[in-house]
Amino acid sequence: MEVERVQAIALSSLTKDSIPTEFIRPEEEQPAITTFHGPVPEIPVIDLDDHDQEKVIRLIANASRDWGIFQVVNHGIPFDLIEKLQQVGKEFFDLPQEEKELYAKPNGAQTIEGYGSKLGKDLQGKKNWADHLFHRIWPPSRINYQFWPQNPPSYRAVNEEYAEYMRRVVDKLFKSLSIGLGLAPHAIKEGAGGEEMEYLMKINYYPTCPRPDLALGVASHTDLSAITVLVPNDVPGLQVFKDGLWIDAKYIPGALIIHIGDQIEILSNGKYKAVLHRTTVDKEKTRMSWPVFLEPPGEFVVGPLPQLADEQNPPKYKAKRFKDYSYCKLNKLPQ
Ligand code: OGA
Ligand code: NI
Repeated sequence: MEVERVQAIALSSLTKDSIPTEFIRPEEEQPAITTFHGPVPEIPVIDLDDHDQEKVIRLIANASRDWGIFQVVNHGIPFDLIEKLQQVGKEFFDLPQEEKELYAKPNGAQTIEGYGSKLGKDLQGKKNWADHLFHRIWPPSRINYQFWPQNPPSYRAVNEEYAEYMRRVVDKLFKSLSIGLGLAPHAIKEGAGGEEMEYLMKINYYPTCPRPDLALGVASHTDLSAITVLVPNDVPGLQVFKDGLWIDAKYIPGALIIHIGDQIEILSNGKYKAVLHRTTVDKEKTRMSWPVFLEPPGEFVVGPLPQLADEQNPPKYKAKRFKDYSYCKLNKLPQ
């Protein structure tokens, strides 16, 4: 394999206090210079099981408008299932390199699925301090088990169970997002592909880094998805851009971090905001995270919902097939 994985670079950097230049960010991106440490409001935390469900809807809508990100607790996914998901993912990344390479994203492949180190291109040619594994987990007709690790043996059962639970949480979130805008409960889900919506699991592996002050795990971006449902491990690193400042997300054991992605911003005609976020890395600890991207099928056209656009409030975004939107974004072309 010609590609050098960041996990291997990290291993050979263990005794050094430098990193290859392609990982050194320009000053305006360096976390040591740009992270805000003063008192800041925290990313909203929402109890999905609150008896006052009107309040839950209001909190979700407000957080999606003002932040584009929130954490949910009492979401119905058992804590021990989340721990198993983390465990089997960690065991995959702990496998010998040759075994992980069996799942490598094929060279020149159209698919995003597989084990790899970089997605799209960076205008400055800078690299992320991270490796990843992508594979779909729903719907069953869109699963390619060739990209699901066979090792550890429980990987498949754990991920299948996680997908089942995730569907219930996601339905509840989509309903709340719709009702929060005064729409029929299914409006947003239908606008993003309905039952055909695809669940793309990503595991991010951020190895220890001798210069966490200079590098980024993932550079700042908004997600392409409709929404993203993320579980982190206990090593902090997710940062969001709010009112001009980069602030740290707090780690809440067992919580899910919900990101509003580009497709919901488009569907809502800008009423909900896709959150700008990035990740930092750690000198001593390996950070991992498990985002699931909820995406429309490639051919599905997403545009501002007609109910949310009129003469006073014209559509702010073009309607596009999701695959065309993704292509432009990944290749840094105008939408
Ligand atoms: C991503 C991402 C955040 C994290 O993979 O798109 O933003 O906390 N990850 O790892
Ligand atoms: Ni992201």
